[in-house]
Amino acid sequence: MAEFDVIVIGAGPGGYVCAIRAAQLGLKVAVVEGRDTLGGTCLNVGCIPSKALLNATHHLHEVHENFEKMGLMGAAPRVDWSKMQGYKDDVVGGNTKGIEFLFKKNKVTWLKGWGSIPAAGHVKVGDDLHSAKHIILATGSEPASLPGVTVDEVNVVTSTGALTLPQIPATMTVIGAGVIGLELGSVYARLGTKVTVIEYLDAITPGQDAEVQKTFQKILTKQGLTFVLGAAVQGVTGTTTTYKRRTDGVEVSVSADVVLLATGRKPYTAGLGLEALGVEMGPRGTIKTDAHYATNIAGLYAIGDAIAGPMLAHKAEDEGMAVAEIVAGKHGHVNYNVIPGVIYTTPEVASVGATEEQLKDQGRAYKVGKFSFMGNARAKAVFQADGFVKILADAATDRILGAHIIGPAAGDLIHEICVAMEFGASAQDLALTCHAHPTYSEAVREAALACGDGAVHA
Ligand code: NAI
Repeated sequence: MAEFDVIVIGAGPGGYVCAIRAAQLGLKVAVVEGRDTLGGTCLNVGCIPSKALLNATHHLHEVHENFEKMGLMGAAPRVDWSKMQGYKDDVVGGNTKGIEFLFKKNKVTWLKGWGSIPAAGHVKVGDDLHSAKHIILATGSEPASLPGVTVDEVNVVTSTGALTLPQIPATMTVIGAGVIGLELGSVYARLGTKVTVIEYLDAITPGQDAEVQKTFQKILTKQGLTFVLGAAVQGVTGTTTTYKRRTDGVEVSVSADVVLLATGRKPYTAGLGLEALGVEMGPRGTIKTDAHYATNIAGLYAIGDAIAGPMLAHKAEDEGMAVAEIVAGKHGHVNYNVIPGVIYTTPEVASVGATEEQLKDQGRAYKVGKFSFMGNARAKAVFQADGFVKILADAATDRILGAHIIGPAAGDLIHEICVAMEFGASAQDLALTCHAHPTYSEAVREAALACGDGAVHA
């Protein structure tokens, strides 16, 4: 029986970051992971492979839409799907191997296999029993199912199967206009697939700023995606999807070569033995924790998709670092008011903090500074001037409460606002900061100026 200070179960972004930080803090650490490669959903079948496909197909989109405008003439490249898949696999392989390297560098032991907790302080992997002062559950999530839909990962797929389709389908139905549906829907639309997105709500990307939702839908429609909103999917037979229109209850069927089910994810906690251990659970299959990630069992903690909060890799990473510091006797902390969200389409969509809708609900007096990328020279030069930056600030104090960006590099631009929010900055603080010209980030400054005396290039 091997003894550790910390055993982390699950080597996704939450688990592997937690393990490395705990090792850096001088603890003896092991990670249990049953996949053949480290990195969890994000690296193996999530964030990273989808970004590779988004990158490749973005270039194809540029060839079709913008090359001629820039005087780049000639035939468009032919898509070699298996080579594109190979590129994606290489990107994944490089990253998962990178974590193996980091484990070796930081002396983190990889216990290969699926772990369970037969008793507090003990972790079983295969026939081996290990003990640890602190056990941290970082087991992540899996695609949620939908009644009436049977996934075979060939014709009816989740995000996992959508990354490895044997060929590019001529038609695809996407169920759910959330992050997965729109990122992967974009990939296939750019490859020539006729993509129809069916969404229960009356807007795409639930929870986003309403103006962003409208602009985003308009842009994606221009890119060839078709949206059916206010439609509750009832089931899928073969590859025919039936939905009920929420306005009049009429049932409609849509056939396609492939159906992508993207209606959310749920915590993955199967096989851990949590019930027998008496671990208290929260709503929707989450593991219940206190503000310090502790469960009701002494020495057992949980982080990431398996607990409450947004299912985002970077939220899990931050919780992983925080809990590592907590078990090492330090003061780990995550500021849940400043967790950015990014959708990696073109244009990108990024947000942090409150939306206008939330501020209205709270009855909070706020002001809006908005700046269109139409006034940003750099965005115009790359044909991406359709979006905007919107900053919400407290009406009295000017303190930044939230920001919503749709436009080029939005996923990077959002972070200067995150830093500003962490420092309790006002919109004027951002507006007074010199921003290099010509950059997309000038649009952020202009939106901050618009919270005060006005943007210059509006
Ligand atoms: P989601 O929760 O973002 O969207 C699911 C959508 O399906 C919602 O709009 C919902 O209204 C709709 N829906 C549910 N039931 C339906 C029905 N019966 N008929 C029609 N529509 C229905 O979930 P998604 O896109 O599957 O993503 C899962 C998780 O993974 C999310 O938490 C997301 O944040 C995360 N993720 C994050 C990424 C990123 O940060 N870029 C990338 C991919 C996933």
